[in-house]
Amino acid sequence: MVNKQELNKKSRFLKACRREPVDATPVWLMRQAGRYMEEYRALRAKHSMLEVIQTPELAAQVTLQPINAFDLDAAIIFADILPPLIGMGLDLEFVPGKGPVIHNSIDSPSDIAKLRTPPAEEFLNTTIQAVEIVSNDLASRGLPLIGFAGAPFTLASYAIEGGGSKDFAKTKALMYSHPDAWNELMDKLVTVQADYLLMQASAGASALQVFDSWVGVAVSKDAYHKYVIPHNNKLFQLLESAGVPVINFSTGTFPYLQDVASCGGEVIGVDFRMPLADAWKKIRYDRAIQGNIDPSLLLAPWDVLKQHIDAVLDSAAGRPGHIFNLGHGIHKTTPVENVQRLVDYVHQRTKK
Ligand code: CP3
Repeated sequence: MVNKQELNKKSRFLKACRREPVDATPVWLMRQAGRYMEEYRALRAKHSMLEVIQTPELAAQVTLQPINAFDLDAAIIFADILPPLIGMGLDLEFVPGKGPVIHNSIDSPSDIAKLRTPPAEEFLNTTIQAVEIVSNDLASRGLPLIGFAGAPFTLASYAIEGGGSKDFAKTKALMYSHPDAWNELMDKLVTVQADYLLMQASAGASALQVFDSWVGVAVSKDAYHKYVIPHNNKLFQLLESAGVPVINFSTGTFPYLQDVASCGGEVIGVDFRMPLADAWKKIRYDRAIQGNIDPSLLLAPWDVLKQHIDAVLDSAAGRPGHIFNLGHGIHKTTPVENVQRLVDYVHQRTKK
């Protein structure tokens, strides 16, 4: 059994989070456990999405599927950013073929006043148990587990829109029209997410990722400053006591990436819309960086994919602190052999 201290010394992923030199660039992929894998589809044919998340043994099993199949440098706990909304009083369903739906989405300030902020151990216990099971299993293989949660803006957008959105009109209408209620909602989300993430770290997660998937698609730099930064600052401040590296991931935020980075996180996760070299220059070299190949490239022939892997690695220029990843989640139609080749090629090309 490898203890926490040994894992910290041994893991290339954790070393890269701290910008220490590594023997090869670490790689993991957002949504690495999912529908592109036969093993995952077989298990999902028998159990719903929420059943998998809420049964620790099943969540643990799915988390390990990509680890058993590929030479990945980290696992991410199988869960979703949305279940924390259930304990707050929202009625979440994953509708097959459609995605997440919240049946009683927020319409008014009085809906926000009614939201609860229960501790994670009360209603997210299954994920916390899954973190315990998987982190023990992985430690014996010398691999770290990443815990995660959604950032307050991205969660607020689902809670208000009732599902995914293209324009975030309802979310922004509430934000601009009722700033006090908006602050109350963001505050409640920060309370719940911070507690949930800290619990995951205590249960054995070696790093934490915060997903602000839609903020850059939705808001301007000014709005980010006024309506998001104070809350993100608070969240990242609260996470400092976790004692593990935090990855701050967002998409579409290149125009104000310095401001995103200023909120916190040892590692900044960047999308595929900008060259990694430009992003790193913007956030400065005292931060580690994670990214950033376009997930759609995994649907292209190997020689095209390889060129882009090379471009990302050239962009990182061998500087310590690069974690190879996609610029967003993997597509469900991704051929498994492309994942295999990508992971092996990143290691092989960067091996010291
Ligand atoms: O990375 C991993 O392997 C861990 C698992 C993970 C899932 N969701 C599993 C999942 C993680 C980290 C997430 C985060 C998540 N969930 C985000 C942030 C990341 C991002 O991609 O921006 C968001 C916005 C969600 C909300 C969500 N969950 C949506 C929009 C959907 C539908 C997407 C789709 O393609 O159908 C989900 C469902 C979901 N979460 C699936 C998986 C594997 C597909 C569920 C299935 O098996 O049908």
